[in-house]
Amino acid sequence: MTEAPGTDRVPTGVRSLDRLLAGGLETDCVTELYGEGGSGKTLLCLEVAVRVARAGKWVLYVDTEGVSADRLRSMAGDELDRLLQRFLIAAPKDLTEQARAVSAACALARDGKRPVGLLVVDSATYYYRLSLSGDDEDDAREALVLEVAELVATTLAAGIPVLLTNQVWRNVSAGTLEPLGGSFLNHAAKTILRFDRLPGPRRRAVLVKHRSLPEGAAEFRITPTGLDGGSG
Ligand code: GTP
Ligand code: MG
Repeated sequence: MTEAPGTDRVPTGVRSLDRLLAGGLETDCVTELYGEGGSGKTLLCLEVAVRVARAGKWVLYVDTEGVSADRLRSMAGDELDRLLQRFLIAAPKDLTEQARAVSAACALARDGKRPVGLLVVDSATYYYRLSLSGDDEDDAREALVLEVAELVATTLAAGIPVLLTNQVWRNVSAGTLEPLGGSFLNHAAKTILRFDRLPGPRRRAVLVKHRSLPEGAAEFRITPTGLDGGSG
């Protein structure tokens, strides 16, 4: 399949990953990152967010994990305070607050009053996971479906990348790590990257789904100042 001409990309700034993604994140779809703890999902979200803010656009960041100020400072350096003026961070404390935060972010992205360049939900499934096997499992599932549907509508309407992270469960019989969130999320995200841990600071992103690019993988390293995907 060939790609529609003019498909916009927002570079992640991680060279190997941008090569894998033919330039970066698409501006008309949801990109999902899933992978085990410590695989670098949050670092990639922060890396792109800093880059987008540096380019003068606003970043809408729904953060269930507690963005590390230290980590952001090591990425942004002296620019941090200036860049943070273009970050709108929501830190929901439960599923209901998360649903409100995602709705509010979608409304801001779509109203066009600010030049928004990126919407992040990290993690989209933290509170969802806590609800699994509990009394509110069905409500959690429904809330996630509604949020993801709104995020899909928003990326299409606003023309900005939506980046969300997803956690994993271990499929013991298959020996694999599978994304949470069920088939709806799997269909709704048009680009899906699985992050793997390699020895030491090395990490690998595997492109498991894309509308117009073949499957493939990119390696990068975690450094004190962010993610390094090599040169060239
Ligand atoms: P979960 O949210 O737990 O699923 O993990 P994640 O995939 O989001 O991982 P994250 O991006 O938070 O971390 C990736 C790696 O970066 C981990 O191995 C951490 O040890 C490392 N890391 C996280 N914060 C810092 C930091 O402030 N400084 C440095 N040098 N490394 C960090
Ligand atoms: Mg994380």
